[in-house]
Parts: sequence; structure tokens; C-alpha cells
Amino acid sequence: FGRSVHYFDSLESTQKAAYQLAYDGAPEGTLVIAEEQTSGRGRLGRAWHSASGKGIWMSIIVRPDLPPQKAPQFTLITAVAVARAIEEVTEITPEIKWPNDLLIKGKKVVGILTELQAEADKISSLIIGIGMNVNHASDDFPVEVKKIASSLFIEKGEKISRAALIQSFLKNFEKYYSIYISDGFLPIRILWESYATSIGKQIKATTVTGEIVGVAVGISNEGVLKIEDEKGVIHNIYSADIEQF
Ligand code: BTN
Repeated sequence: FGRSVHYFDSLESTQKAAYQLAYDGAPEGTLVIAEEQTSGRGRLGRAWHSASGKGIWMSIIVRPDLPPQKAPQFTLITAVAVARAIEEVTEITPEIKWPNDLLIKGKKVVGILTELQAEADKISSLIIGIGMNVNHASDDFPVEVKKIASSLFIEKGEKISRAALIQSFLKNFEKYYSIYISDGFLPIRILWESYATSIGKQIKATTVTGEIVGVAVGISNEGVLKIEDEKGVIHNIYSADIEQF
């Protein structure tokens, strides 16, 4: 990973650029990275604030030989690889909030967005976008973001090398990707659950079909969040916004 790197000073979105590159046949491991995004994309159609030179805004192309239902697992593999990279470089252990947020002291530091291109019943490519707030001071965030977001600089109290983080992430992503291919999702799931903030806690999941309140009991082997409601019924959550109590 990262052997073919497309680097830009400024882009609308690395995700958009990588999506096009993947469509045009770019190989697995292709990395698109930008100093600044003018139109960064978050999950559920939201905007992603991507100030120049402060963070890591990148997207990678992965081409596993797997069916499309496996795509969500890659968000979790990525989350674990980013968590490890943050630990290695800053000695801070982040928490993972399902499916894709990394938090430090309850504030969001990393977001992950996975998009899929599939043909028939096979993944042709996954485009995994990672946005990491690295060297932002509190005033570098827009007011509405300031309340919920933080950066590694704010949490650690010193500037952090973006190059070291990228290197460590790529090394860890390769490692967990190959463990996943050889041994399946279980080892990733165990690791993921060790970082997870919501497991065992009361949460509310807002999905397109409504709200589910209950205790997060874990994730399935598919990477799906399992919530047990007050009647003891287990709900499988594929996509939702999670609020924790
Ligand atoms: C989220 O938490 O909603 C996901 C945020 C993903 C942001 C990254 S930054 C690099 C890549 N390019 C984008 O436009 N989005 C992703």
C-alpha cells in the first residue's frame, strides 16, 4: 500500500479522485492524498472540514476478491489500523465508535468513509477515505465542529508528524488486511472490540427506518452492530448514527 501515491496540494476530495482512479483501473494500494480538500465528504452526505496542512486527508484503493457484503468489515479493519498508528506515534489510545469514528476523550479525531464499486457479486474496488485531525489548534475548527472534534495536537500537547502517522497506518493496514485474508474477520473483531467505546453501554441508533434503543452487545462477524433492546431482542444495525448515554 502506498506504492502508487497521487499527491495534491489541493483537491475537491481525495475520495472523489480515488473513486475515479479506481473506476479507471488503478491498482490495489493506490493512495490519493491532499494537503487541503475544498469539498471533503463525510458519511451520510455530510461535509468534512479539511483545513490545509493540518490533517491527513487520504483515500486508498483496495481490491479484495470478495463479495460486496464484506465491504463493511473493511471500515473496521481500517479503524483498527488507524487506532494502532495513533497509539504507536502518540502513545494515546483512541476509542472507536461504531462504525467509523475514532474519539479521544469523547471527541472525534478521525472519520472513515468506505465506498464500494461492485460488479455482479464481487467487489471490484473499495475506496477507503480517512480524515485525521492531526495538528489543528482548537481555533482551526469551525465553531460548529469545535464542540465535537479534537486533534492529536490538542490531546497530546505537541505537534505530531503526519508522515509518521501515514507510514504507521499503511504498515498496520497491510498487516491487518493480510491477517483478515488468511484467518478471517474474528481476530480483527476481537481487536476492534478492545477499542470500542459503546460495547456494554446504552445507546440509541438512528437508522433510515427509525430509532432503536438498547445495549450495544458487540459486532457480528460481518461487522454489523448488535443492539439488545429491553425485551431482549437483538437488532442488527447495518448503518446508523449512534448516540451513547
Ligand atoms: C465521516 O466521519 O463522516 C467520514 C469522514 C471521511 C473524511 C475523509 S478525508 C479523506 C477522504 N476524502 C473525502 O472527501 N472524505 C474522506
